[in-house]
This record gives sequence, structure tokens and C-alpha cells, in this order.
Amino acid sequence: MKDSICNVLDELEEQSSLEKSRKINVLPENRMLAITKETGELLNMILRLKKVKNMLEIGTSVGYSTIWCAEAISEQSGKIITVEHNPAKIRRAKKNFLNAGIQETIQIKEGNAIDILNELSKQEEYRNFFDFVLIDADKENVIKYFDLILPMVSIKGIIVTDNMLYPEKYREDMKKFSDYLKTIPGLQTITSKIGNGEEITIKLK
Ligand SMILES: C[S@@+](CC[C@H](N)C(=O)[O-])C[C@H]1O[C@@H](n2cnc3c(N)ncnc32)[C@H](O)[C@@H]1O
Repeated sequence: MKDSICNVLDELEEQSSLEKSRKINVLPENRMLAITKETGELLNMILRLKKVKNMLEIGTSVGYSTIWCAEAISEQSGKIITVEHNPAKIRRAKKNFLNAGIQETIQIKEGNAIDILNELSKQEEYRNFFDFVLIDADKENVIKYFDLILPMVSIKGIIVTDNMLYPEKYREDMKKFSDYLKTIPGLQTITSKIGNGEEITIKLK
């Protein structure tokens, strides 16, 4: 991994751990709420093994998960579209992408995820387009996100959803989501205990 990427990931891990331990006081809207390092490693490995070229991420925050993913995708000369509605976080993410030297791999779409997904899903070019999707925005809309995303995922494409197990305040929404996935034919899905609990779903047909 390039030094510039390692340095930014290290900085963000430090920031995340200070926030989680409440050693620094950060307003709720400015918190990173990032995936864990272990989840970053898992995503990076899946992307590498699958040689993913086209990825979609819902919930950029300041770009920690995006950078883990972009590192693997850049080797395939692929692209990530990442969606975020908080302008202050987008500014921080852009700076992090530049510092990591990975900005060419990432396109940020600024706005409400439902609106952006509605827009993308109307475009024929995005039908069966994404080989990999990370869903990590607000949890109450997770089923809506999944429904809009599924037609845009390629056959054998993977959708990872964060926070299936932690924080516990999301358990109810995530249980509904996991029960919902079981009703959809043509999916294979498993809840992994890695990180905050990662749902790994494959679109089989
Ligand atoms: C859990 S954080 C994402 C963390 C990031 N994936 C990481 O691991 O570094 C969720 C992000 O989704 C954004 N978000 C929440 N609801 C959204 C919405 N309706 N549209 C777009 N972004 C949203 C929040 O502003 C927040 O930055």
C-alpha cells in the first residue's frame, strides 16, 4: 500500500478512536462513524479477489471506508461513486482523498441518498453495473436503499451492509433488514461478526 494512503488511514483511525472513546468532544453531525479497520481490510480483500471495477458507496462521511476500497479498486483502474449529504464531511473527504493521492478513483455525489439512487437507477447504463456496493448511511432507510440498489448490481455482485450488530440502537432496523433479505429470491446472504457486523449479500441471479 502507498505511504500516502497508509498515512491518511492511520490519521483517520486515530481520530475515530478518540471520538469513540469520547477523549475529544465532537458534535454528532461531525462524527466520522467509520467502519472498523478490520472491516476496511475485509472490504479491500473482497474487492481485490473479485477484481472489482465499479463500486457504489452510500455514506462517505470523511472517506475512511472509501479510501480502503479505492486502494484495491485503483489497481483495476476502476471507479467508486460515493454518496454523502453533509457538505462539511464532503470537504474533509475531498482533502483526505487528495492527501492519500487516490482522488482519481473516486467520484463524490453530494445530496440525499434516496434522490441520488432514484436518479442513477433511471439511467440504463447503471443497470447491472456495480460489482460491489457498500451501504453505510442512515439505518432507517436501509431497505429502501437496498431495493433501489439491487437492479444496479451485476450478477454475482456483492452488497455489504455495515452495523448489522453494533451499535445496539440499530438492532431493530437491521433485524428488519436481515429478515427482509431472506424474502428476496436469488440472493445468498450471511451476517458476519467482523467489525460492527457486516451483512455480505451476493446477487446470484
Ligand atoms: C456511518 S457514516 C459513514 C461512514 C463511512 N462509510 C466510513 O466508514 O468511513 C454515515 C454517513 O451517511 C451520511 N448520510 C446519512 N443519511 C444520508 C442520506 N439520506 N443521504 C446521504 N448521506 C447520508 C451521514 O452524513 C454520514 O456521514
